[in-house]
Amino acid sequence: MSHIHIDVENVSFQYEKGKPILDRISFHGAENDSIGIVGANGVGKSTLLKLLVGLHLNYQGSIQVEAIPVQKETLPRIREKIGYVFQDSDSQLFMSTAYEDIAFAPRNYGLPEEEVEKRVVSALEMTGINHLRDKQIYKMSGGEKKLVSIATILSMMPDIIIMDEPSIALDPKNRRNLIRILNSFEHLKIIASHDLDMILDTCKRTIIMAEGRIVCDGPTEEILSNQQLLEDVGLELPLCMQKRS
Ligand SMILES: Nc1ncnc2c1ncn2[C@@H]1O[C@H](COP(=O)(O)OP(=O)(O)OP(=O)(O)O)[C@@H](O)[C@H]1O
Ligand SMILES: [Mg+2]
Repeated sequence: MSHIHIDVENVSFQYEKGKPILDRISFHGAENDSIGIVGANGVGKSTLLKLLVGLHLNYQGSIQVEAIPVQKETLPRIREKIGYVFQDSDSQLFMSTAYEDIAFAPRNYGLPEEEVEKRVVSALEMTGINHLRDKQIYKMSGGEKKLVSIATILSMMPDIIIMDEPSIALDPKNRRNLIRILNSFEHLKIIASHDLDMILDTCKRTIIMAEGRIVCDGPTEEILSNQQLLEDVGLELPLCMQKRS
């Protein structure tokens, strides 16, 4: 088996006693997988992604990233492997400027400042935000913060990308560029989104969640063209498949 993979086995989780949020979730993500996670508001998509990067550790079952169990002692190693974009950019960005935030991970790896700068410049270039390089984060719009968040994980050059609603707040051109970035990333990526058209353009495989469970896991084109299945879980066909009325 390739070294890049994620294994989730029988994972259940609750924030508060007696209120199960995730219920016996199992799936395997392989090196070349691109997986869309879809489902109505509140079904547990963000919670599942947070568990994969170790933001909540009191889960039942097993989560392994490249055969390393996700637990307190392994978090630094797990976080080097996964580039994770939060649904809420304010939880992601904590330095004062875009440059400092994007430089944070490569600096943390102990790379020489010259290499750090190269990575930051390349991430700014890829996301089309050279003009935001020295702008203070607190003065940025929602879309600008999202683009900086995406750049912070590109500068990491991670094995695995996990993004939670990455197209939220992006204008059509930046959304199109995000799709290009995602499609140029060659390893495992897992993307939770309500933007089913983006999932269709970037993910070969789709997992549908409902009430904390996986109800369907298969080829995106089959799943996202199945109107009945989507309606049963409170979703609709991607816009590109909807007939104009
Ligand atoms: N910190 C928390 N404490 C208690 N309950 C929480 C917490 N975070 C989320 N929840 C609850 O867990 C459930 C799943 O939330 P989650 O954010 O994972 O859903 P989601 O599928 O990502 O929804 P959305 O599509 O709106 O982003 C919701 O009922 C939510 O209220
Ligand atoms: Mg969410």
